[in-house]
Amino acid sequence: MSTLNIAIDGPAGAGKSTVARKVAAELGLTYIDTGAMYRALTWKALKQGLDLGDELSLGNLAHSTKIRLIRASDGSLQVECDGLDITDKIREPAVSGAVSTLAAYPAVRKRMVELQQAMAARGGVIMDGRDIGTQVLPEAKFKFFLTASLAERARRRWLELVSLGFNPDLQELEAQITARDTQDENRETAPLIVAPDAAVIDTDGLSIEEVVDKIVGVVTGKSE
Ligand code: DC
Repeated sequence: MSTLNIAIDGPAGAGKSTVARKVAAELGLTYIDTGAMYRALTWKALKQGLDLGDELSLGNLAHSTKIRLIRASDGSLQVECDGLDITDKIREPAVSGAVSTLAAYPAVRKRMVELQQAMAARGGVIMDGRDIGTQVLPEAKFKFFLTASLAERARRRWLELVSLGFNPDLQELEAQITARDTQDENRETAPLIVAPDAAVIDTDGLSIEEVVDKIVGVVTGKSE
């Protein structure tokens, strides 16, 4: 099982990270949250007060920043930026609001994709994001695209943020998710699209465990 790679793509709030983390635990794979890498870079750019319209500076920032994803004992990921633990900071609304802007720049994406491909080079990873099946791991043995309705995705983000101690407004979250979807789907470089060979899973009405079972079933050859 250690040489296979699994790609999981889909829009914000489709449940990718929770599902990917659990599949990783069941199959003994390493989970890599690529959205966390774009978020870490965005956090640093905001902290440094960089101009979010300046692609060159942000591309340089991507090259000079050390981002590490460290697996905690409970299976969650700790996100380090230049040696600093910023796991909670990358979920702050300011980061969520700006990350799609950074993620649209080819110079930023090029560096992130290089890092992600290096992380997956030895196999045995499950990686979630927007372009994993199309750009980062086009040769991945298994590709899944998770979707869910806007209302369901906003509800999930709301629960996630509340559990982190934030006090989000559901309607505002829906508006933010719609804006992020639009930006991610319409950017010129590596837009969010379904890879032709990906299995699409609509997660509306499915529990996390049901989605995990579906994926594990396909990967271990127990079901279609
Ligand atoms: O999955 P997430 O919400 O943490 O992702 C944060 C942002 O990063 C989102 O707007 C899309 C972008 N992203 C991307 O463009 N490519 C990836 N592989 C992962 C995330």
